[in-house]
Amino acid sequence: MSFHVVAIFLLLVRTNANSEGDALYAFRKAVKDPNNVLNSWDPTLVDPCTWFHVTCDNHNRVTRLDLGHAKLSGYLVPQLGRLQHLQFLELYKNELVGPIPKELGRLKNLVSLGLYHNNLTGSIPSSFSNLSNLKFLRLNSNRLSGRIPRELAKLGNLKILDLSNNDLCGTFPTFGSFSKFPEQSLKNNPRLEGPELMGLVRYDDDGLCK
Ligand SMILES: *[C@@H]1O[C@H](CO)[C@@H](O)[C@H](O)[C@H]1NC(C)=O
Ligand SMILES: *[C@@H]1O[C@H](CO)[C@@H](O)[C@H](O)[C@H]1NC(C)=O
Repeated sequence: MSFHVVAIFLLLVRTNANSEGDALYAFRKAVKDPNNVLNSWDPTLVDPCTWFHVTCDNHNRVTRLDLGHAKLSGYLVPQLGRLQHLQFLELYKNELVGPIPKELGRLKNLVSLGLYHNNLTGSIPSSFSNLSNLKFLRLNSNRLSGRIPRELAKLGNLKILDLSNNDLCGTFPTFGSFSKFPEQSLKNNPRLEGPELMGLVRYDDDGLCK
C-alpha cells in the first residue's frame, strides 16, 4: 500500500471511531451527572474505548454502554442510534425524562435494551421492530403511553419483555413473540384494554389512546 492509501485508511478509521465518541458525548451533554460517572468521557481521545462504562470490541467499536443506577438525569439523544455495533444499552434506574428516540431502532446488533425505572414519556417507537437481535427489552416503570406497536410481535429472538408499570393503552398483540410472554410483562398499565381480537387492532374504539 502506498503512503496515501495508508493515510486515507487511518483517517477513515479515526473518523469512524470519533463518530461513536461524538454520539456518546452528545449524550453526556444532554444529562446531568451529579456523581461524575462520566468524567472520563474525553471527546479529544481517538476513540471512546478507554472511557469508563463503555466497552469496545477488538476493532474499537462500542458494544456496551453500562450506566445503570448512575443518578443520571436528562434526555436520551438520537445520536445513540449511531452506535451501529452496540449490543447492550443499559441505562436503567436513572432519572431520564422525555421520549425514547426512534433512532434507537437503528441499533441492529442490540441484544439488550434496559431503560427500566426512569421517567421516560411518549410511546414505544415502532422502529423497534427492526431490532431483530433483541433478546431483552425492559422498559418497565416509566411513564410510557400510547399503543404497544404490534410489529414488536415479529421480534423472534425476544426472550424477556417487561413493559409493566407504565401508562400504555389500547389492545396488545397475542401472536408471535407475544404468545410466550407472561401476564406480568404488561401488568400495571391501567389503560391497557386486553388482547387484540382475531388479529384486528381496534383503532375505532379508543381514540383516547395516546
Ligand atoms: C419521576 O417523576 C416524578 C414526578 O416528577 C417524581 O416524583 C419521581 O421521583 C421521578 N422518578 C424518577 C425515577 O426519576
Ligand atoms: C426498518 O428499517 C428499514 C431499513 O433500514 C427502514 O426502511 C424502515 O423504515 C424501518 N422500519 C421502521 C418501522 O422504522
